Amino acid sequence: MLTSCTSDDLSTRAAAQVVNAHVADELHAGLLAPEAWISPKFLYDALGSKLFEAICELPEYYPTRTEAAIFEHYGAEIARVAGSNATLIDLGAGNCAKAASLFPLLQPAQYVAIDISAEFLCDALAHLRQRFPHIAVEGLGMDFSSRFELPPLVRAERRLFFYPGSSIGNFTPDEAHAFLRRLRAQCGQDGGVLIGIDLAKDKAVLDEAYDDALGVTAAFNLNILRHVNALVDADFDIRQWRHHGFYQPELGRVEMHLEARSDQEVHWRGGQRSFAAGDCIHTENSYKYQQADAIALLERSGFEATHVWTDPQRWFAVIHAQAI
Ligand code: AVJ
Repeated sequence: MLTSCTSDDLSTRAAAQVVNAHVADELHAGLLAPEAWISPKFLYDALGSKLFEAICELPEYYPTRTEAAIFEHYGAEIARVAGSNATLIDLGAGNCAKAASLFPLLQPAQYVAIDISAEFLCDALAHLRQRFPHIAVEGLGMDFSSRFELPPLVRAERRLFFYPGSSIGNFTPDEAHAFLRRLRAQCGQDGGVLIGIDLAKDKAVLDEAYDDALGVTAAFNLNILRHVNALVDADFDIRQWRHHGFYQPELGRVEMHLEARSDQEVHWRGGQRSFAAGDCIHTENSYKYQQADAIALLERSGFEATHVWTDPQRWFAVIHAQAI
């Protein structure tokens, strides 16, 4: 599915309906699976996106500020390594702030913001066009997490995929490999990636980052049930669920789950399920990489890491990799 900022209302609405059928099927399948699951992409409705922004302000949640500090500290070097006049393709652009902060140093020729929510993009892009009149700015509303193809309006030369925030951690390593191969197939010989990856670290640090004292992450996780209620007319009683977020070192990932506080029955359009007290719904995996494994993953996917920037504690890595 692909909508650009300029697409008319009708085609946008038709596309939205296709997404809804797909969304309903995916939710239905997950809720009825022996180990129930809901995709983490459903964490981000309007409230969920605000809760995630609040998470990024928490003292326990180090990734956002650690990555920002790396960009701040090494911005000039990152721009030198990545090179100016790129076609900067922002995967999951949101409000475009991270990419925009690189513009003065990186000087891209074209900036292409991609996000599932095209409407959200349009405002941010209008602003950027004013601030950076010499950069060609485009917006694409599409889900790039599965198969995708870039339309001809995206310049073919010097494509640089920007994928910050350790979003790649939501993929399993196999899915991440397939995803990176798709980027490789779309970037030509002169392309590359600039990617932020969260690194494996002490369990206590990770447990706190995903189960904070204020309960913001708990609210963020529980909010997925509100979103599901709205999407498929479900009747989840939020008060009957409890948040869990913890690191599983042997699996190399943080997991988020919602645990039923009591026996209950949940209904939604086209389905229902009984949950016993203690039953869990798996809502997110967030993989944490060893630096060497992240580099190996990029290399298996057709890229060569040209530079790795980290913080003094080595908690987070920003990697530039070139197509090979
Ligand atoms: C946006 C996927 C990178 O995995 O840390 C934050 C989402 N989940 N707290 C992450 C998240 C719980 C975040 N990513």
